This record gives sequence, structure tokens and C-alpha cells, in this order.
Amino acid sequence: MTRVFHPETDRNAIAEAAEILRRGGLLGIPTETVYGLGADGLNADAVARIFEAKGRPQDNPLILHVPSSSWLERFCHDVPAVAYTLAERFWPGPLTMILPRRENVPLRTTGGLDTVGVRCPNHPLTLAIIEKAGVPVAAPSGNTSGRPSPTTAAHMLEDMDGKIDGIVDGGPCAVGVESTIIDLTVSPPRLLRPGGLPLEELRAVLGEVAVDKAVTEKLGEGERPRAPGMKYRHYAPKAPVTVVTGDPTRTAAYIRKHLGESNGVICFDEFAEQFTGHTVHKLGAAADRLAQAQHVFDALRAFDTDDVRHIYAQCPDDAGLGLAVGNRLKKAAGFHVVHVESPVVIGLTGPTGAGKTSALLALERLGGLILDCDAIYHEMLRTDEGLRRAITDAFGDVFDENGLNRQKLGAVVFGDSAAMDRLNAIIYAYIPREVERRITETDVPIVGIDAINLFESGLSRLCHRTVGLLAPPEVRLRRIMARDGIGEEYARLRIAAQKGEDFYRAHCTDILMNDAASAAEFENKATAFFCHMIQEINNNKEESNHE
Ligand code: TXA
Ligand code: MG
Repeated sequence: MTRVFHPETDRNAIAEAAEILRRGGLLGIPTETVYGLGADGLNADAVARIFEAKGRPQDNPLILHVPSSSWLERFCHDVPAVAYTLAERFWPGPLTMILPRRENVPLRTTGGLDTVGVRCPNHPLTLAIIEKAGVPVAAPSGNTSGRPSPTTAAHMLEDMDGKIDGIVDGGPCAVGVESTIIDLTVSPPRLLRPGGLPLEELRAVLGEVAVDKAVTEKLGEGERPRAPGMKYRHYAPKAPVTVVTGDPTRTAAYIRKHLGESNGVICFDEFAEQFTGHTVHKLGAAADRLAQAQHVFDALRAFDTDDVRHIYAQCPDDAGLGLAVGNRLKKAAGFHVVHVESPVVIGLTGPTGAGKTSALLALERLGGLILDCDAIYHEMLRTDEGLRRAITDAFGDVFDENGLNRQKLGAVVFGDSAAMDRLNAIIYAYIPREVERRITETDVPIVGIDAINLFESGLSRLCHRTVGLLAPPEVRLRRIMARDGIGEEYARLRIAAQKGEDFYRAHCTDILMNDAASAAEFENKATAFFCHMIQEINNNKEESNHE
């Protein structure tokens, strides 16, 4: 029988739990990452029982849990100064350091290695138990080998009931994924497992940090990761898993398209309703990586009792805790990962007469889909009931059988800046949503957004880069006169009524100057300009994919 301790109501719990460790027993311990299966790390027989209870391969070393960095010298030698810097910054917390092992740590504990992983967990109950026991606690995650790590006492009991002496219920784990493992015996230090402490935070202290191949890829036959545990299939539900990476809106669309009967989904909260009729387990909001870390194992575990044939999982990108969440999902999938590309999105804006048509043509010839926002607006005035109703509610019955009656609407909004603001607010609520929908639906690799009010409308937020098309004032003047057949005075008035160059220089990420002698020459210039820009955007995307 496995005894469950509830320390908040049971005053003797800590002492009795410590006693289990001291006499060589097995104890489930709460930590901030996941529940651990603990035993006296200096007692080779006790440690052997951990491997037995988990069904864990003998060569997979255990982490030693200590109550503070002052214990490091007892079990490690040649401890570098930087280990203390890290401990100061991040302990107690989700960081495990690999250091040279002292002789007193049994080879059983370290899987035969002459290094040892040490960590100080951030959970008051476990810290108190270790202090009381007076021994370092060797503890792998408290799951049966190969299953998702437990983040509640109940989950651990599911795997270990009857196999261990006790389990301390310390509530659900605050972080939800295991500790980050950094190998400090090599130079530069090497990330062996992403975890609860983001890589960015380690780099802020250590500078260069190498990332072990096993973190991001499936290893080939005979390849050995530096953390032996990384080679095993892990966290895997019974059904096969496909991980889908990329922009969440697109990954959701991809999954919808491929989802078959009796298929399940792990997805961000916002997308759950797109999969009604299927078994869905939610990860947390797309932007909330901590929530995703807290839920990833529960979601995987939940699928063990659901009868599904295949599981599709949305996956965060590698920033912050996303690296650890993605790694757990990908391991569960045996690194079966599909990446959904998003198109490069370039916003184009600028005053009249600068040559936008030629620039758009250049972008189109490069394979770009041009979204003309003015045309989309007019189309929506005819087809979008929501937009029509919003305008009618605000300005009365301005539609007739021919569509929007411009004169009627103009009579209300021109000369009344508050009314104009209200009209713009309505338009800016509808157009970007429609543009975003079209970007999501398209399969083309490049999208150009053509919008006069690129920034005011919020459309710039959909763009990787925003280009302001400008031309020397005299050139614009001549072009407008020729194009629209108007006199110089009127053309100057039109130019004066528009936003000045300063606006574009202040808001756009890039300026394209149309100072070419002919339209053909400018098209060449624009083509070179966009080619270069697209390459840069794609290079940046690459980097953030493989960081
Ligand atoms: O958050 C955690 O680290 C949790 C909680 C309980 O502390 N523990 C945990 O332990 O995740 P476990 O055994 O499930 O994972 C330990 C990982 C394995 O991949 C193992 O190969 C690696 O750490 N490891 C341990 N000692 C090592 C060493 N000396 N050199 C390289 N890798 C080591
Ligand atoms: Mg584990």
C-alpha cells in the first residue's frame, strides 16, 4: 500500500516522509516542475528500487536533489564559479546542473557516468523533507518509464500505487515541465534538455550555450545524446501524434483539413471550438506559455483513456517556455512534425503619385498575392452583412438597391470629424479581419497589402515589413497632372491634402524611393528591393524556427 501524506492537515507528515527516505524507501515528492520518485541518492539499493518501480533502463541517470548550493561540494568536484552564479540566480528552481561526480555518489545513481546532475527544487515541502532526512534525494519524474510525467499526486498514484512507500501531496505543479538541464563540464555549456527555465535566461548569464541535437531532432540509429534519457521514446500516448508547428491560425486550419474520424486534438484554448465533435484537450491560451507548460503532460496523459486513432497537436514556437513545451510534444510524436509555412506579408502605403502601381506589379511578378484594401472595402460593402449593419446602425439608411449611397454617407461624415472617426472605427474593425482571413487561406508564399491607411487601420500589425513608397515632390506633381489630366494648382492642392513624407519615414520599416527615370526602370528597382526584403524576412523566420 502506498501511503498518501497531506502535510497541511497532518503535522507529522514531513518527519515521517523523511524517515521513509532515511531507511531506504521510495517516496513521491512534489516539486515545482513535476512529481519525483525519490530515494536516498547515496544508497545504491534504494536507488535500484527506483529503477525497478519505474521500469527505467539502468543506464539512464538520476538527478540528485539538494536543499541548497552549499551541498554541491559534497557530491561534485571541480565545481566552476559559474555554477554558484547560476545557483544564486535560479535556485531553488527548475535548473539541473551536470558536474563532475564525487566517489561517494553511487554509479547506480548516475547510470555509470562520472558526472552527476544536481538540482535544488522550489517546493517548501520537499526542501523541508530533504533537510530533515539529511541525504540528497535521487529522483526521476514519478511516472512509469515512457509515460507522461505526473503533475499531480493523483497522476503519480495512477502509475505508482502499491509500488512505493508513500507520496506527499503538495498540490499541482506550478511549472509543469521538468527542469532545464545544463552540462557545465563542457565548453561552451550545453543545453541537454529544455525545461522550466528558459534558454534565454541561461544565455543571459552564461553567454554562449550550445544546444544538444537531441533537443530538436530525432537521433539516428546508434547516435547517443549526452543526456541518456533523451534517447528514449517518451511521454507518448497510445495513439500516434502529429505535431503541427507554425502560426496558430494556420496550424488550426491545417489540422481541421487533415482531421479524420476518431482523431483527437491538443490545441490552444482559442481554437478548441473549431474541433467540436472530436476529443479535444486544451494546452492554454496561444500566448500563455506557462499555462501550456502546466497542461502539456495532462493533455498527453488524458489521451490514454480516450479512444482515438490519431492525435494532432498545435505547438508553440521556441521562445521562452515554448522550447520545453514543443520538445515534450515532439518527443511524444517521435519527432513527427509538420511545419505549416506562413506567407511573407509586406504592407505597402504612400501618397498618391509615387508609383504604387508599378511597385505592386513588381511584387505580383515575384509571385505575390496583392490584397487591395480599397477594393476589399467596396466588395464588403456589397457582401458583408455585418459591415452593412454596423454602418446603417451608425449613420442611418445609407444603402439603396445600388449599394452604398456615397452622397448620402458623405453628407453625414464629411465636415464632421467625430462622425468620420466613427466610420473609420467601423471600417478598421472589419477590413483587417477580412485581410487576415485571406492571408490565412492563401497558399501563395508572398502577400502584399495595399492600403492607404496601413497604420491607422491596424493592418500594419499583419505585416513583416511596411514599405512607404515615396517620390520627389516635382515628380509626383507631374505624374498626377498627366495621370488625372488636371492643372498644376489643383494637383498641388491634392498633394498638400495628404500625409507628408515625414509620416511615412516615421512609421514604415522601409522606404522605397521612386526616383527612376521611367516606369520600367522603377519596376526593376522595386523588384530588386522586394527580392532582398523577402530573403531577409525568410532568413529571420528560419532562425526563429531553429533557434
Ligand atoms: O524537473 C526535474 O528534473 C524532475 C523533478 C522530479 O526534479 N526530474 C526529472 O528526472 O525529470 P528524470 O529522471 O525524469 O530526467 C532526468 C534526465 C534524464 O534525461 C537523464 O538522462 C538526465 O536527466 N541526466 C541525469 N543525470 C545526468 C548526467 N550526469 N549526465 C547527463 N544527463 C543526465
Ligand atoms: Mg522523466
